[in-house]
Amino acid sequence: MKKFILSAVLILPTAALAQPSSQVAWTAEQLNFVKVGNPQKGQELAKTCSACHGEKGISASAAFPSLAGQLPTYLYKQLQDYTDGNRENALMAGLAKTLSKQDAADLAVWFGSQPAAFQSPNPMVYEQAEKLVKNGNSERVLPPCEVCHGGNGKGQVVDIPALSGQNADYLTATLQAFKNGTRRNDIYSRMRIVAQALTDQEISELGYYYQNIKK
Ligand code: HEC
Ligand code: HEC
Repeated sequence: MKKFILSAVLILPTAALAQPSSQVAWTAEQLNFVKVGNPQKGQELAKTCSACHGEKGISASAAFPSLAGQLPTYLYKQLQDYTDGNRENALMAGLAKTLSKQDAADLAVWFGSQPAAFQSPNPMVYEQAEKLVKNGNSERVLPPCEVCHGGNGKGQVVDIPALSGQNADYLTATLQAFKNGTRRNDIYSRMRIVAQALTDQEISELGYYYQNIKK
């Protein structure tokens, strides 16, 4: 019996770790599948998204993320993650499950091709945020956001999203979700590790910083 309990204790954490954060694997085939998505079909399908994400992917409410100008591969991965239950949001999961993989690729290409949002320039200077973005923090082993998200928050292949112009409220909420582990669809925990090292104050400032950055 003791032996059984011991082996259960040893096996359980490994099983938890083995649970992948996403079912999407970026093979050449998968990349190409998204790349050749049909934007005309995507535009047609996007009518069901417009109430929340805006007609051209610029959301009307600060709580909803804008999708315009985002990397299609990132958008596609998020839709699959909602479908597979790797990213949890009741509303988006319900919707994503009604889409075929082809629909998801078509939508991703269409939204990705739309001009990105840019909020009106804000004269505020977010000094702390800018330091974290450009230099990181070596004491906390925090890499600069730029290393992954690129200069001006423009995103990077394949799955690192653009952040520039994104709604601050959404950015803050999703960073908090990475921090407390309710969002855990980042492959290799790349974002959870970063978010866990940030204070709530820094998260809030980073949200405004990126909202006001132009790609
Ligand atoms: C009723 C409102 C609503 C509708 C309609 C809706 N969404 Fe969403 N969407 C949301 C919300 C809220 C979130 C943020 C959820 C979260 O925090 O995970 C979101 C998140 C997303 C994301 C993740 C964005 C990111 O930056 O990570 C994608 C992609 C997305 N939606 C695509 C779509 C598509 C495509 C459609 C239409 C087929 C659609 N949504 C329809 C409300 C909506
Ligand atoms: C080691 C690379 C790496 C670093 C450094 C990094 N990120 Fe990320 N970030 C990612 C990846 C990868 C994702 C996408 C996760 C997924 O697949 O959903 C992401 C996603 C995000 C998102 C979600 C965007 C959306 O539309 O939902 C935000 C916000 C974000 N990062 C902010 C930051 C900030 C702010 C910093 C600096 C403090 C930072 N990141 C540093 C890799 C990184």
